[in-house]
Amino acid sequence: MDYKVTLIPGDGIGPEVTEATQRVIAAAGVAIEWEPFLAGAGAIEAYGTPCPDEIIESIQRNRIALKGPISTPIGTGFRSVNVTLRRALDLYACVRPVKSLKGVPSRYEAVDLVIVRENTEGLYSGIEHMVVPGVAESLKIVTEKACMRIAEFAFRHARATGRKRVTVVHKANIMKLTDGMFLDVARQVSKRFSDIETNECIVDACCMGLVRDPSNFDVLVMDNLYGDILSDLSAGLVGGLGVVPGANIGDQCAVFEAVHGSAPDIAGLGVANPTALVLSSALMLQYMGEREAARRIEHAVEHVHAEGKVRTRDIGGDATTEAFTEALVAAITS
Ligand code: NAI
Repeated sequence: MDYKVTLIPGDGIGPEVTEATQRVIAAAGVAIEWEPFLAGAGAIEAYGTPCPDEIIESIQRNRIALKGPISTPIGTGFRSVNVTLRRALDLYACVRPVKSLKGVPSRYEAVDLVIVRENTEGLYSGIEHMVVPGVAESLKIVTEKACMRIAEFAFRHARATGRKRVTVVHKANIMKLTDGMFLDVARQVSKRFSDIETNECIVDACCMGLVRDPSNFDVLVMDNLYGDILSDLSAGLVGGLGVVPGANIGDQCAVFEAVHGSAPDIAGLGVANPTALVLSSALMLQYMGEREAARRIEHAVEHVHAEGKVRTRDIGGDATTEAFTEALVAAITS
């Protein structure tokens, strides 16, 4: 085997889309030895914790993981495994390329933007407490160090991928210290990237601008919460959560996963669209230096969608996950 990669199939539709993705990677000719792990509610039953240390150690060793979605209980229960992994591995940059796919029905045709989300702090720091009964407080933590590295990442990413502009998304008019710092640091960093145009957008106006004409946007950099929300909004611009990939990247390792969650409403039915995780695996292969295999997978995804004969339910077809995966494998190997 050429590579060893940590595999977290997750729950809900996770195991279905993960298995499909493994098949597609194998068809693209990259031999991977997978190290699979349970996480989330299933891991609590088996190990007493939603994110066993063995997972973190495996990713630190292999430096790369492919991950399916993991359900997080709402309001109560265990802390999000996603947040735990991102923090423990310092996966500070979440990168989500949002691109129109020919054949996938959506309101827009030429969307091609990248959301770069700060992944380790902000309102996702998880520091919450009850002040007095009936009053709760959640702390938004913003550090200059985290602002600096995410801004630098966004500009470096823009330059490396031949993009022209970085939009800094913020709410510094209201959160003058936290978002003010994010904006100030991004302005400083932008001075070192004179080849990349920079502009600024208040988050609410940015939502309106994205819905009105997403082709005006290129790379967008923002804090954790805004990135979470704008990722789903942007997925809606290109046909939904089933088609948008993602990567969580740190200086030492990276975890590749789709934007979507565990989709409990369709779990186990065999109808999930694996496109998002398959495209995430193409990002993973690029990261590993397997550019040709990544390109073949992306072309296969584009080809099968453009042809439109095999479509999953979320984008207006009736194909099963299995049938769609077979179409991808056939497109890669033909
Ligand atoms: P969701 O993304 O799971 O589902 C939203 C809607 O999109 C549902 O109607 C679902 O059927 C559909 N959908 C999502 N992915 C799809 C796919 N690949 N193919 C076809 N349809 C798809 O979001 P929701 O319902 O808010 O979250 C469900 C659970 O997932 C929650 O427990 C949440 O915490 C977790 N979650 C986990 C994430 C992760 O592990 N990275 C990310 C987001 C949510």
